[in-house]
Amino acid sequence: MPAPRLAPLPLPTAAMQSKEDRFKVLSGSAHPALASEICAELGLPLAKTYVGRFPDGEIDIKIEEDMRGGDVFVVQPTCPPVNEHLMELLLLIDCLRRASADRITAVIPYYGYARKDRKDEGRVPISAKLVANCIVAAGADRVLTMDLHASQIQGFFDVPVDHLYAKPVIQAEVEKLGLDKLVVCSPDVGGIRLARAYARSLNAGLAIVDKRRVGATETVSENVIGEVAGKNVLLVDDMISTAGSITEATRMLQSRGAERVYIAVTHAVLCGPAVERLENCPCESILVTNTIPLRGEVPNRLRVVSIAPLLARAIARIHRAESVSALFEET
Ligand code: R5P
Repeated sequence: MPAPRLAPLPLPTAAMQSKEDRFKVLSGSAHPALASEICAELGLPLAKTYVGRFPDGEIDIKIEEDMRGGDVFVVQPTCPPVNEHLMELLLLIDCLRRASADRITAVIPYYGYARKDRKDEGRVPISAKLVANCIVAAGADRVLTMDLHASQIQGFFDVPVDHLYAKPVIQAEVEKLGLDKLVVCSPDVGGIRLARAYARSLNAGLAIVDKRRVGATETVSENVIGEVAGKNVLLVDDMISTAGSITEATRMLQSRGAERVYIAVTHAVLCGPAVERLENCPCESILVTNTIPLRGEVPNRLRVVSIAPLLARAIARIHRAESVSALFEET
């Protein structure tokens, strides 16, 4: 009996396809609008992915395209509901690994669980480290993130991390306001590096509010270090969560004679009493980025600037194995 003939080789194989064919972006349910905006910038279609729930609430995922050999970027900020979005991210990464993706980059514009980054009292977890371990264990080869609560969280991942700053995007918006007598202020000592960076680039003065946290949603601002009387003050921070810090700081600055206070923050977490607090905040405007989608009620003076072009450029550079730090000169 003659030996059966081998079927012809299906060409081209994934390995032979061009690099561009294997460049994929997909999204969980946390922020599909941002993922679509990034795809539009890159001129790529958003890969088709099903993210649903089983009747018992467990997450059901299926990626509906071939991912074999792909250089895949999963866009998923771990914003509220944090546990749902984190678990989706882990399952998407696991799914891609098992679908033989070549390289998986977790694009996490907002990294939740970041605030517990050290053991500063007995019997508490280091949540930021545990979450990093989970993301790497799931199979992420790289992480692309933005304005981490603390830069050292980069070191919690045993894979390369590209850490972007929203500062170029926010600064461009602030410059449009044409503010004179400008002082940049941090609402707490922890944010001083960020405030100093803005102050330097905007050629402005620097001030710090001396904040004390008295509970998860309450802070007390006790003093202002720096000259703010008669000045326009730009209050910068990494995030607004319950808006206690930023609204307290605004009031403190006004009590010290600041002329006008403008708020600029990267991550608009906006939970608990945040919207009400921001509505009553005596500031001129609130500028945030779209690392997190705004859901529900949005405070009146809040304006959103998109970081999609910045993330898209970083993704393109990672894909082409080019320097990401060069981006800062570009923007
Ligand atoms: C604190 O270290 C952060 O930079 C923010 O200032 C803080 O997390 C904001 O929280 P909230 O809006 O609840 O005061």
